[in-house]
Amino acid sequence: MLTSFHSRAQAEFHPAPSIEPPEETKLAVAATVPTDAGCVGTFVGADEEVKAPGLDRAFLKAAGFEGKAGQTLLIPRSGGPPLVAVGVGARAQLDAGKLRDAAAAFARTVGQQKRVALQVPDTGSVPADLAAQALTEGVLLARYRYRPYKRNSEQEPPLESLTLVSGSKNTEDVEQGMMRGGIHSRATAFARDLANSPATLLTAARLAEVAESLAKRCGLEVEIFDGEALARLGCGGLLGVNAGSAEPPRMIKLTYTPRGSKGEAIQPLGRVSLVGKGIMFDSGGLGLKPNDLVHATMKGDMSGAGAILAAMTALKPLGCRTAVTAYLMCTDNMPSGTAMKLGDVLTVRGGKTVEVINTDAEGRLVMSDGLVLATEQSPRPDAIVDVATLTGACQRALGLLSAGVMGNEQPLVEQVKDSGERTGDTVWQLPLDRRLRQELESEVADMKNVGGDNAGAITAALFLEEFVDGLPWAHIDMAGTARAERDNAWRSKGATGYGTRLLIDFLVGFKPTRETRH
Ligand code: BES
Ligand code: ZN
Ligand code: ZN
Repeated sequence: MLTSFHSRAQAEFHPAPSIEPPEETKLAVAATVPTDAGCVGTFVGADEEVKAPGLDRAFLKAAGFEGKAGQTLLIPRSGGPPLVAVGVGARAQLDAGKLRDAAAAFARTVGQQKRVALQVPDTGSVPADLAAQALTEGVLLARYRYRPYKRNSEQEPPLESLTLVSGSKNTEDVEQGMMRGGIHSRATAFARDLANSPATLLTAARLAEVAESLAKRCGLEVEIFDGEALARLGCGGLLGVNAGSAEPPRMIKLTYTPRGSKGEAIQPLGRVSLVGKGIMFDSGGLGLKPNDLVHATMKGDMSGAGAILAAMTALKPLGCRTAVTAYLMCTDNMPSGTAMKLGDVLTVRGGKTVEVINTDAEGRLVMSDGLVLATEQSPRPDAIVDVATLTGACQRALGLLSAGVMGNEQPLVEQVKDSGERTGDTVWQLPLDRRLRQELESEVADMKNVGGDNAGAITAALFLEEFVDGLPWAHIDMAGTARAERDNAWRSKGATGYGTRLLIDFLVGFKPTRETRH
């Protein structure tokens, strides 16, 4: 019987295996290679003398290894664990991103090893802590696998330990960086787990439970709004999308308050509000999506909300001084006799009316309520950032490596871009061309939920802008970056956890861009 199948699976289901102790990788910094290491990675530049003991350029060259970025060569040794030469390309051009990629290439070459050691290279102009962070992230993120439903996962075992072998005097910096890399990677793995979870198991209600269970240990306040509470708030966007579903909706409100050493609230350096698209499954609604591979990945349509929840688990451990509030707008989008119909008019929080022309443009409907709630906060936020797998148009424009970013405040967009560059969760700015706003004019309501055939990512952003009340706002459309079709450097196939590290970096370094009327 289907119901018993579901309830059994539901009982056994763990939405976030990566953040439970047995899955955690032990991280250490040491002066020498630990005796139990199954292999040792050492970096080799393309244009320099080979310094690793037992290696020389002629030997490597004869084996076809030139030290190009991403190249690796496994060298068995009689007196110890195999050595893995890892190419980093031209040493002068080395940056944190290249180190992260090289560490990921190393991790994939030794995918069967449970305990690995990596020699910290001469990182040139990259500070030791940032280098250690990038190396840690590269290894941990590349070794991520979603395992709960694989009966045969011994071929790719979880990593038990990673040791960075550092001969340098600044061990403390390396330790700091490794700790940060661990926090960033763990949060990203959590976001990946959530987006990889089958939609029937990870419902909006279950995600709310996950958020609640994390609250205490992560220093977050969590408030859950069910259907009735959402109706009282007038969240007609979220409720409209939920109308066709057998599963109840949830809005998950998370609050992070910076605190001092005695646990007392301290003056924040800025206030940011986040809004995340939490469509647990996007079938398209009555405008059902075709039975294809895009439809088959729509359990990941909550990746924006997942990235926000995951990023917020990292704020306390990193001592973030920004006050952060998040609204995760969660429901699935399903067709049924009770579903919203094409031509229906929804009234979102704050009173604006929206004519639903396309039930598959549901993300912007749920986001609108969240954006309005963010503008109503007291004190008002210095910035609102929303994250959503919003449009296939953005994926077609930019591909799978960079998300689109748009906003009404260029210095804020620049901060998002900088965080993208630092973390490798890159963004590319698209123009918020307000001449296209007229495409959203409706015959019967204040606006309709889709524009014309062209520039779909931009008209979606223009729709969202209607709800931010002129506050500094940036919108990240991560439809293309939420999933990787195959392993690619530190992106493991499946959900990428995109946005998690970008948001952590952005929130920790946030600077208000203008005086906000509080
Ligand atoms: N969830 C999709 C967007 C999406 C597409 C995410 C591909 C990830 C990969 C969104 O709700 C959607 O269906 N958007 C429509 C918008 C259209 C109806 C205006 C789209 O992109 O086709
Ligand atoms: Zn859709
Ligand atoms: Zn969607």
